[in-house]
Amino acid sequence: MTVLTGAGVSAESGVPTFRDVQTGIWAQFDPQEMASEPGFRAHPQRVWQWYAHRRALVSAVQPNAAHRALAQFARHHPGKLQLVTQNVDGLHQRAGSPGVICLHGDLLVHEWLDAVCPQCDLEAAVQRGGEPPSCPACGNPVRPGVVWFGEHLPAAALAQAEAAVQTCDLMLVVGTSGVVYPAAGLVFQAHQQGARVVVVNPDATELDMLADACVRATAAQALPQLLRLDEGCL
Ligand code: APR
Repeated sequence: MTVLTGAGVSAESGVPTFRDVQTGIWAQFDPQEMASEPGFRAHPQRVWQWYAHRRALVSAVQPNAAHRALAQFARHHPGKLQLVTQNVDGLHQRAGSPGVICLHGDLLVHEWLDAVCPQCDLEAAVQRGGEPPSCPACGNPVRPGVVWFGEHLPAAALAQAEAAVQTCDLMLVVGTSGVVYPAAGLVFQAHQQGARVVVVNPDATELDMLADACVRATAAQALPQLLRLDEGCL
């Protein structure tokens, strides 16, 4: 089984989704300003502070029953579940899921904005602080290690996800609106190669047309039962 998760899987932990019309992140912020390289170059301090706020938020919340159910299933059935996530909050990893494939990076990881000079020391720059931190030698700024709009996904993660999709018999799609590609394209690939597709989402999604079943429930309600686990022991 391959599982693709999106922001909805973390909603019940208190992490806002992106496209909820009232509380979604993109209802309050312009993605081109906050989640693109040109946006970061134009307003590095503002964007850095926003990511610092998001890092603090995800560090303060806990994995929920959905994250725990997936981790427990993987523990009980080694090698049977490949977890692919669009989330950058690290909650699957904190719940104990092994080998999570992160398509959109990780909020807690940092990278250089530009090419690395021989003097650049990423960890030292991050420790030194600044908004954003930068290399004392060349001034190269540090950026969040997440995939921004207009950027390629990490090639290795995408290749692993595609391999997982090509070989699965069941694809579980949890808490994603299914509008962002290439992640959403993985569900088309799974459907095309004959896998059954099950969507878990309280609302309709762009991927429902591919689904053999749509479970209209929240992730924390549905996953413990779908994965046949007793919530009491999670
Ligand atoms: N359980 C399950 N699903 C839920 C829950 C919940 N408790 N709460 C909300 N949802 C669903 C919503 O109905 C919606 O379909 O989660 C989905 C969240 O969709 P988006 O906000 O679009 O998040 P996602 O699909 O992960 O977005 C993909 O877009 O900008 C980005 O890079 C960001 O990785 C993200 C990508």
